Amino acid sequence: MIDLTETQPDAFSALDVTKTFPGVVALSGVSIRLKPRSIHALLGENGAGKSTLIKVITGVHQADGGRLLIGGEEMSLRSIHHANAMGISVVHQERHLIPRFSIGENIMLDRLSGADLAPIDYNAIHEEAAKWLKVLGLDLDPRMPVRRLSVARMQLVEIAKALSHESKVLLLDEPTASLTPHETETLFDLLHKLRDSGVSIVFVSHKLEEVLALCDQVTVLRDGKNACESRPLAGMTRGDLVQLMIGRSERIPDWDPRDRATGTPALELKGLATEAGHEGVNLRLHKGEILGLYGLIGAGRTELAKAILGKIRLRGGTILVNGQEAVIDAPGTARDRYRIGYVSEDRKGEGLILLHSVLENAGVTVWQRLASRLGFLPRLRIAEAVSPVIRQLEVRTPSLDQTLGNLSGGNQQKVSVAKWLAAGVEILIVDEPSIGIDIKTKAYLHQLLRDLSDQGVAILLITSDMPEMITLADRIAVVDRFRIAGELPNSRNYGEMSAGIMNLIHREDAA
Ligand SMILES: Nc1ncnc2c1ncn2[C@@H]1O[C@H](COP(=O)(O)OP(=O)(O)OP(=O)(O)O)[C@@H](O)[C@H]1O
Ligand SMILES: [Mg+2]
Repeated sequence: MIDLTETQPDAFSALDVTKTFPGVVALSGVSIRLKPRSIHALLGENGAGKSTLIKVITGVHQADGGRLLIGGEEMSLRSIHHANAMGISVVHQERHLIPRFSIGENIMLDRLSGADLAPIDYNAIHEEAAKWLKVLGLDLDPRMPVRRLSVARMQLVEIAKALSHESKVLLLDEPTASLTPHETETLFDLLHKLRDSGVSIVFVSHKLEEVLALCDQVTVLRDGKNACESRPLAGMTRGDLVQLMIGRSERIPDWDPRDRATGTPALELKGLATEAGHEGVNLRLHKGEILGLYGLIGAGRTELAKAILGKIRLRGGTILVNGQEAVIDAPGTARDRYRIGYVSEDRKGEGLILLHSVLENAGVTVWQRLASRLGFLPRLRIAEAVSPVIRQLEVRTPSLDQTLGNLSGGNQQKVSVAKWLAAGVEILIVDEPSIGIDIKTKAYLHQLLRDLSDQGVAILLITSDMPEMITLADRIAVVDRFRIAGELPNSRNYGEMSAGIMNLIHREDAA
């Protein structure tokens, strides 16, 4: 059989694209060529230029140089609407939904304002939106306001919105960052179908297993340049991709097992029951220990963290900090009186201010800790406390005064983690710490958490990333349906631990 795709023009190409921001060369001579009927991975470290390239392709940013070709014809895209009209649609890395609007209004937003001033037909809008929700297997009422949705659901609604344009080119910037494995699988089935029906898809992700399972072509960016351009993915390994992204191979830490579960626990939960639905939760977290909380999404781990911080009310039981009963009514009390910090899973929603500088964002916990004692705090003192962590996590920023919103998505994530690593707390709860963070920084972050625990900080680690759990945790407590299903020491043997954990979850099922 003759392979026609080889002779067809590219569905889309961007050639020799350059884009600079004040103090930053984001793209320098970057190219990508999309074949019809393909899923093209766009990879690179945080700040490598992936989102910037996507914004140039979709008319959000105007390039300083280079060419865009659609089906072989040169184009200049003036705006996102123009890109939509040319058959290109996009799901950006940052969320763009309007919280008080309904799901349906958000999906149909670009098509709400008719030129003829006719009244909006809400029934028609919600019907059309329902169709696209269904394509994604989402059983949601399109009339529900978006603000009531979880982060994962919001991400899916944005994908439904992009699909509703029925474009020939679909760009997805980290669409799976906060999806469950099940949601991801549904999305991948759909992307395969779209590809087979002739759509070209660009897929950005830091989860390399996903990339290897889904994509057929790959472009890797490094420091705003091509490390490889539009290569077939077949035959490439995870190691090859890592090499292209970071210029060396991945380092897997080889840490000795530790037993830190001795003495009075730094944090203890006794028979805790909460308004979220937890019953009889008993946990002990010791000084210098990393206790992993493993569970499927929806098992009640984040809610347990929020109950410890006083954001969800208790119905029974007690929380003890260093053996003393603690009364925690708000996160401020947890932080100031009990020295408990919390890296939230929803980092944008809780705690980062995009219009403020990197220093103001990263320094806020330091400021809260020291300012009350000193009355005021010189900038230099904050910078001194924050800089080492910012440096270790390789936050890519021209200076500490850069506006946070100008950093790449992953670098913003790093700042929210850095803020708590610099906070000087004794108990640290970290919820999905490496979402959106590249594999190199992930390794640094793991080292930092391990170092913090060696310095005596007690860490409660919530993660759905099994390798991360097995790398870091000293012990693992399995949470299932708002209860502790059991506890396991971490043998650091991947197969053994996965089997042990799944056994605990399924034993509950059988009961
Ligand atoms: N509006 C802006 N103003 C100034 N600098 C910017 C702006 N947008 C992006 N940059 C800079 O351009 C570089 C590339 O950023 P980009 O967002 O494209 O990275 P990325 O590859 O998407 O990273 P991530 O994996 O973290 O999302 C970064 O150094 C970033 O700080
Ligand atoms: Mg990005």
